[in-house]
Amino acid sequence: MIKLIDKLYKTNNLEYDELVYILNNIEEFGKEYLIEKAHETRMRAYGDKVYMRGLIEFTNYCKKCCKYCGISALNKNVERYRLTLEEILLCCEMGYNLGYRTFVLQGGEDDYYSDDMIIEIIIAIKDKYPDVAITLSIGEKSYDSYERYHRAGADRYLLRHETASRELFERVHTNSSYDNRMECLWNLKKIGYQVGAGFMVGIPTQTKEDLAQDILFLKKLEPEMVGIGPFIPHKDTIYKNELGGTLEDTITMIALTRLFLPYSLLPATTALGTIHPLGREQGIKAGANVVMPNLSPTNVREKYSLYDGKICTGDEAAECRYCIEKRIVSSGFSIDMSRGDNVKWRERR
Ligand code: 5AD
Ligand code: FES
Repeated sequence: MIKLIDKLYKTNNLEYDELVYILNNIEEFGKEYLIEKAHETRMRAYGDKVYMRGLIEFTNYCKKCCKYCGISALNKNVERYRLTLEEILLCCEMGYNLGYRTFVLQGGEDDYYSDDMIIEIIIAIKDKYPDVAITLSIGEKSYDSYERYHRAGADRYLLRHETASRELFERVHTNSSYDNRMECLWNLKKIGYQVGAGFMVGIPTQTKEDLAQDILFLKKLEPEMVGIGPFIPHKDTIYKNELGGTLEDTITMIALTRLFLPYSLLPATTALGTIHPLGREQGIKAGANVVMPNLSPTNVREKYSLYDGKICTGDEAAECRYCIEKRIVSSGFSIDMSRGDNVKWRERR
C-alpha cells in the first residue's frame, strides 16, 4: 500500500489495477499516509492558500431528469425561481465589495435563459468588474454556445461528469447521454476554458472500480478544476432511502485526485460540509484548495436544494463568509481572494 502511494506521489499516475487495489484495501494507516502525501503535493503546487469563489445559484428550473437530484424536472415539489440580470448584478456587487474576484454562475438547465441572455449577463458583469473571473455552470450546451459565452468573457466552466462509468451514468440519468456529456467536456477544453469536471462519491450501486475509472478519466482530460462531493439522498427522489457517500470515501477520492492532478483546483464542497460538521476542513487538509461560499439572495437559497440537509441555507446564511474564513484559518490555511487561476493553465497561455 505505502509503496503504491509513494509511486503515485512520485509519478502522479498509477495503473487501473493499482488504483483499484488502493481503493479496495486502504486501511487506517494507508489513509493517513495518503492524506499526508496529498497535503505535501498541494503545498508544493499552491502553498497553504485556499481560493474563494462566490457562488450565485441564479435559477433552479431544470429540464433534466437526473434521478439523484432534488431540482430535477421530475420533482414537482420544488418552488422554482429565477434571478433577473439586476438581481445577479446585486449579488456580484455584494460579492465584489466583500473581496470576491471569481463569480460562479450556476443553474439548472433552463432554456428560459437564451444564449443571448447568458451573454448579456457575462458582458454586464465584466463591464462593471473587469478584474473578475466568470465561471459558468449551466450544463450541456452546443459547441457554438460554449464558444460564444467564452468570447463574451466567460473564463471557466464547471460540468461534472458525475461518473465516468457509462453503465452507472445511464442507470442514474434518464434524458442525458454519457457521450454528449463527455463531448461537452472535451469541447470546453478545446475552446480554451479552464474546465471543471467532477463526480459524486457513493452514488447508489457505485463500485470501487467505477471510482477508479473516475480518476483515470480525469487524468486523461486534465481538467483545471475537479468538484468531488458525496452523494446525499434527497427526499423527493427515488433514492430517498438509499445510503449517501461517506466522509472517508470522499476524502480518499479528493486526496487521490490531488496526487493524480497536482495543480488542480479542488473545492471542499458544500455537500462535504453537509455530511459532517468538519467535512470541509477535512477536505482542505486532504488536498482541497477552494471553497465556494454562496452569494445567492438568502430568500432563494433553500430552494436550490439538490440534496437534503444542505448547509448555509438557513438563518446563518448571511454569516457564511466569516464562518468559512474562520474554518480555513483555524485549520492552518490562508485565505486567497484573488482570481486564483490554475497555474498550469496560465503558463500555457
Ligand atoms: N447529492 C450530492 N450531490 C448532488 N448533485 C446533484 N444532486 C446531488 C445529490 N443528491 C451534484 C451533482 C451536480 C452538482 C451541481 O451537484 O454532481 O453536478
Ligand atoms: Fe455557511 Fe458556515 S459556511 S454556515
